[in-house]
Amino acid sequence: MSSVRTAVDPTTGAYAENREAALARVADLAEQHAKALAGGGEKYVARHHGRGKLTARERIELLVDQDSPFLELGALAGWGTDFTVGGSIITGIGVVEGVECMIIANDPTVKGGSSNPVTVKKGFRAAQVAAENRLPTINLVESGGADLPTQKDIFIPGGASFRNITQASEDRRPTVALVFGNSTAGGAYVPGMSDYVVMVDGGAKVFLGGPPLVKMATGEESDDESLGGAQMHAKQSGLADYLAVDERDAIRLGRQIIRRINWRKAGPVPVSSYAEPVLDPEELLGIVPTDLKVPFDPREVIARLVDGSEFDEFKPLYGQSLVTGFAQLHGYPIGILANAQGVLFSQEAQKAAQFIQLANQTDTPLLFLHNTTGYMVGAEYEQGGIIKHGAQMINAVSNSKVPHISIVMGASYGAGHYGMSGRAYDPRFMFSWTGAKSAVMGPAQLAGVMEIVARQSSESKGIAFDAEGFQGIKDLVEAQIEEQSLAYFTSGLGYDDGVIDPRDTRTILGICLSTIANAPVEGARGYGVFRL
Ligand code: COA
Repeated sequence: MSSVRTAVDPTTGAYAENREAALARVADLAEQHAKALAGGGEKYVARHHGRGKLTARERIELLVDQDSPFLELGALAGWGTDFTVGGSIITGIGVVEGVECMIIANDPTVKGGSSNPVTVKKGFRAAQVAAENRLPTINLVESGGADLPTQKDIFIPGGASFRNITQASEDRRPTVALVFGNSTAGGAYVPGMSDYVVMVDGGAKVFLGGPPLVKMATGEESDDESLGGAQMHAKQSGLADYLAVDERDAIRLGRQIIRRINWRKAGPVPVSSYAEPVLDPEELLGIVPTDLKVPFDPREVIARLVDGSEFDEFKPLYGQSLVTGFAQLHGYPIGILANAQGVLFSQEAQKAAQFIQLANQTDTPLLFLHNTTGYMVGAEYEQGGIIKHGAQMINAVSNSKVPHISIVMGASYGAGHYGMSGRAYDPRFMFSWTGAKSAVMGPAQLAGVMEIVARQSSESKGIAFDAEGFQGIKDLVEAQIEEQSLAYFTSGLGYDDGVIDPRDTRTILGICLSTIANAPVEGARGYGVFRL
């Protein structure tokens, strides 16, 4: 094993400047997360507590094992839209009775916990994470059903959420519904499709139609309890398997159910003891420059993420703009691809493709650390076959069968985003650091390209190009692309699983690798390694 030596000097001005800027970004991240933590705001939280109910986050806290972490996914979903940040639902991986579970909790303080387009998208992502990593699912239900003003955007696609529950069951991944409150109309199918159902006496209301709707439809006089109360479902309809006396009892019963599912992880077992990194993860804040155009050595990052700071580099003298190598993280083997100088040339693309094949041969999960401006352009590179070589890398990434995790450290532009297993390539998990930017290209470059295109268009029509007039448009476009490239924005759109403090990366990766180990980890079969 080769330990990584460090060239990072915490006494330099550049380090101090980077660190200060990173700390400001991390403080801002806490402010953005506070929006999600606030749910529907003080008034609705107070009203909810006043009714003797726990908030969604309090329910999760009681459900998971004491002092165990909860890896929240999509906390900033809806950021930058008119919807409440978080999308009226909380999703994440929590450990219940020692079992990693996907936990999905409606937030009844946000528009009665109703589902808007952000909620639906986030719920689908949670279902995907549970399916790919073979996790049991626990739904904490209290929802007003469809967000009526946006029903056109959710009604038709939203139906898949019920199918996802029953398909999880078909896949032998247990599904549990703890029903705390309203679960009407379509929402009734959440307990309806789940393997195990717990209902809170006096709280749960599970019916296809409430009293007013029944009156309209059939003229029958009814009340909530006879139509869908917990007692009725436990004693008459049989939809409730367990009757909980209150919310805490429902959580206790949820834990009891998980205790009996006889869960066995089907993936690799980590080594029992491993060393923490020798180099301090705190220094990650001083390593990444504020200006993404300034390159940094990703080995410095890797050395602060992996066990013992030990990294065995593969092909270190070839394609040096991409660092590849093997390491161990929280006891799990991992292959790492990390951009160094930003641009991906032919050598880098071929090195990546070869390395990805090697990882598949040894069933080793892959970590992609993004900081790329994309594949190299220009006549020399086109003539040298950059498209073919980039295609080899994208082919290898697309057909790789080992789990991928992507972390956007800095830039993630152009096809480089794809080659580095961007969102469309289905990495099991993807997180962005606070200063990350993802876009088709850098904002200044994009605005410059638009100017050249506009100039050529004017010339072809024989019209003089108004460079001064176009400057305003160019500035506007640049500012817009800048904003839309930011991590909050892309996270708000659901293009990653969250924006994170770089110092938390090792812990988060450890949780991800442990989660991934619920399913078998097997690389692609069928070909040997193509030497490229
Ligand atoms: N779509 C959009 N907004 C909804 C909503 C829905 N389905 N359900 C509730 N809201 C809104 C309310 O308009 C209210 O907004 P406001 O505070 O800005 O006025 C807010 O959420 C809280 O609702 P409220 O009724 O005061 O809360 P509650 O806790 O007393 O009751 C419900 C919650 C869900 C039981 C109740 O709001 C309800 O029955 N909603 C309609 C349920 C329904 O029929 N959904 C359609 C199913 S497909």
